[in-house]
Amino acid sequence: MTHLSPIQSSPSGSIQAELLEKLRSKQALIGIVGLGYVGLPLSLTYAEVGYRVLGLDIDQTKADAINQGSSYIQHIDGERVALAQRQQLLEATTDFSRVAESDALILCVPTPLNQYREPDLSYIRDTMAALLPYLRPGQVLSLESTTYPGTTEEELRPLIEQRGFTVGEDIFLVYSPEREDPGNARFNTANIPKVMGGSTAACGVVGVALYEQAISEVVAVSSTRAAEMTKLLENIHRAVNIGLMNELKPLADRMGIDLYEVIRAAATKPFGFVPYYPGPGLGGHCIPIDPFYLTWKAREFGMHTRFIELAGEINSAMPAYVIEKTMDALNDLGKPLKGSKVLVLGIAYKKNVDDMRESPSVEVMELLRAKGAEVHYSDPFFASFPPMRKHTFALRSVDLTQETLAAFDAVVLATDHDAFDYELIASHSQLLIDTRGRLTPGAQIVRA
Ligand SMILES: NC(=O)c1ccc[n+]([C@@H]2O[C@H](COP(=O)([O-])OP(=O)(O)OC[C@H]3O[C@@H](n4cnc5c(N)ncnc54)[C@H](O)[C@@H]3O)[C@@H](O)[C@H]2O)c1
Repeated sequence: MTHLSPIQSSPSGSIQAELLEKLRSKQALIGIVGLGYVGLPLSLTYAEVGYRVLGLDIDQTKADAINQGSSYIQHIDGERVALAQRQQLLEATTDFSRVAESDALILCVPTPLNQYREPDLSYIRDTMAALLPYLRPGQVLSLESTTYPGTTEEELRPLIEQRGFTVGEDIFLVYSPEREDPGNARFNTANIPKVMGGSTAACGVVGVALYEQAISEVVAVSSTRAAEMTKLLENIHRAVNIGLMNELKPLADRMGIDLYEVIRAAATKPFGFVPYYPGPGLGGHCIPIDPFYLTWKAREFGMHTRFIELAGEINSAMPAYVIEKTMDALNDLGKPLKGSKVLVLGIAYKKNVDDMRESPSVEVMELLRAKGAEVHYSDPFFASFPPMRKHTFALRSVDLTQETLAAFDAVVLATDHDAFDYELIASHSQLLIDTRGRLTPGAQIVRA
């Protein structure tokens, strides 16, 4: 599906026409830069529709795994990588001189916040520095990393122009945000509509050709800025609405109302209501981080993003709320938190994934430990507590049995993986703190 004006005729029309032909006939070599949660599935999506894909990463272990036909991401089936290998459609390398072979370069590198909670574009800048010497006319470069509006025009375009290329004539520059939802059985890279904005109209035409063969629908917008803002809007919308639910959770609790029941009831309204659910806090690489990219950029325009800040405040206070509820529940049993044995169920940031980035469960574990509790965890996705930049727990996942559950003073359900045996957990925990509304509250089951 295309929404753009026809191909522009320009002196370099032949460069564009040649690239369009390669993309449309699937003769183009697609370079994917950054082979993480976004880049690996995107590489496979291109290979699965018949393109040859060259994956580029600075991490040799990822390149080696791909070249051996195996996956290093739990929810991505290794057989998909093996098949692409057998068909000789996928190769990975850390040798950036091979950038020149690629007709397309799609950047999927991290965009975290720095210690001052400001955008950290160092990965994008490092990647551009590695690519620049090997750029050549007739390539399309697409940035997929989540970022603030203006990044493509202010950071990428000048670098390309400084190399003497004309954007929209020699090199085609687009921004197209990734909408991956890891672990979602219904939606994957190939069937999630892809928003894309070009740096020029000619870039936009190439951008549509880049994505339309591999992805079911390309939604072209008028500029890279509009595409960048679209991604932030989507994630801000989630952060703010989850924040609203997290604000209502303690209130409903105090009023003796089951908020989950209320949300489910409201969701029966066929229009004008979208259900969001409270939890122990925000997690993942996107929702807790991306909104602050806009907050930062807004300052340049003398504006404050108050909803974003407020949602951030409420959401980041949720782990402390969980601790408060746990302490109260233990207190009712005559036990102090200090010295109590507490088991945290689920350390991934959301259910059914092996991703711990920004996981609120870890914040809960930190707070429990700081209060003197003896903390353990159980998570089918992590046999041992993985190394994290800010957190150290020398722990192994506890096997859930009648005996192990009963040995804890409190069990905190932080991430409700489907693989947990909820009957076993509910019937053998002395005290169960449910932060996800998964279980019916009862004598020893408390919502938090
Ligand atoms: N994970 C998601 O579900 C998701 C969803 C939507 C958008 N995003 C966005 O996509 C981007 C990538 O996220 P991700 O989750 O795939 O990150 P990730 O950390 O899983 O993967 C990033 C990869 O980039 C590689 N890398 C780092 N520096 C590099 C460089 N200079 N050159 C080449 N490779 C380099 C890393 O080794 C890693 O393999 C981020 O901007 C993120 O906000 C992620």
